[in-house]
Amino acid sequence: MGSGKGEFLVRLAELYGVSGIGVDISPYCIRDAREKHRNRVPQSDLEFLEADGAKFKAEPESFDVAMCIGACWIYGGYRGTVRATMEMAKQGGLVLVGEPFWLKEPDESI
Ligand SMILES: C[S@@+](CC[C@H](N)C(=O)[O-])C[C@H]1O[C@@H](n2cnc3c(N)ncnc32)[C@H](O)[C@@H]1O
Repeated sequence: MGSGKGEFLVRLAELYGVSGIGVDISPYCIRDAREKHRNRVPQSDLEFLEADGAKFKAEPESFDVAMCIGACWIYGGYRGTVRATMEMAKQGGLVLVGEPFWLKEPDESI
């Protein structure tokens, strides 16, 4: 969820041959992710959907791994994201949730 330009999913397909769905609201990210898929793992079963993640309805327990890296606001924050990804993941599956943070406060002069 909030798959951006698809780098994570494409790398998983390169390394482990996974199939998967990436959802992102940005048409520019989806365009780049699809291009990356075509160029790097054309044989893999990846799909990139342009959609608002908050409205995306997956079948419950339909994924081995459900992840949302750097886009927790889609589900109203960290707790909501853990809940949503857990609902999508199969029993015994994995969820991966990541929050972005500043390593260093931005320079005020910028
Ligand atoms: C900080 S980026 C993280 C991208 C990717 N997960 C990564 O780690 O490279 C946040 C992404 O969330 C997407 N996004 C923002 N609001 C969204 C929404 N409501 N539904 C789906 N994607 C959304 C943005 O377009 C952006 O690609």
